[in-house]
Amino acid sequence: MKELSKEEISPLSSLEVWEDDVLKRYPEPGTPAKAKEEFRNYDSPEIDSVREFYRLNHKYQTYDNVLAKKANFLKFDKMEMPWWTAMEYLNTLIDDSDPDISLDQLQHLLQTAEAIRADGHPDWFVLTGFIHDLGKVLCLFGEPQWNVVGDSFPVGCKFSDKIVYPEFFADNPDSKDERYNTKYGVYTHQCGLNEVQMSWGHDEYLYQITRDYLPEPALYMIRYHSFYSQHREKAYDHLLNAHDQEMFKWVDKFNPYDLYSKSPKPPVVAELKPYYEDLIAKYLPATVKL
Ligand SMILES: [Fe+2]
Ligand SMILES: [Fe+2]
Repeated sequence: MKELSKEEISPLSSLEVWEDDVLKRYPEPGTPAKAKEEFRNYDSPEIDSVREFYRLNHKYQTYDNVLAKKANFLKFDKMEMPWWTAMEYLNTLIDDSDPDISLDQLQHLLQTAEAIRADGHPDWFVLTGFIHDLGKVLCLFGEPQWNVVGDSFPVGCKFSDKIVYPEFFADNPDSKDERYNTKYGVYTHQCGLNEVQMSWGHDEYLYQITRDYLPEPALYMIRYHSFYSQHREKAYDHLLNAHDQEMFKWVDKFNPYDLYSKSPKPPVVAELKPYYEDLIAKYLPATVKL
């Protein structure tokens, strides 16, 4: 791939711009439909940056890109540190956007986890909420935003038109590659998602980091939390097996906490830290290798 420009590495002013866009696409049930309409008709630099983000994401997320990123990042030879330190490291990912209205990464993670905890879910579910976006440290390793966030989707088979901005897949070389551009591509009917390569990003990366330590529903939540074309649109039922369908009930349970737990009141990190340190110690090794 040719050298990328700064605009191609970071089309968004911050990663939250993508998340805000998802929230507008899938507003909390009960919120006025007006919000969605405003989003559709409103011409703004932010929407242009989201379009540009998806143009790049859909162009460059090829089957080969996924294999290359896995070969590099699944060596876990970049850094090693205690989990809490890694969460603070993630928080050095600073926004260019208005600091008054945007929460930092740690605040989003604590709000997600605290909402799960308030509803009385098991502690591993709370821990999942707390760490689910740690994979975004990929940005700190110089990865372009479209290799870190964005709706995730299978590669190696036809891109679904249920994925946001499907027209941009025309520029993805896999769309013209007959190994990859049929309904099943390199896969078979209901072969199971474990056989399926997903577009590269923070979801798959954290799944690979935690796969030996957390209960299976937690791993599904982590691995597929950005797979909106499946959990919202059911676009890939032909690849999921019965076990995936069962486990996706957990992904569906997790999603509202991720999307709808944002509140302007920032959590008090120092007060919550001992509880989360204990949870980390219960399930995870002392250090995380990134
Ligand atoms: Fe995420
Ligand atoms: Fe999140």
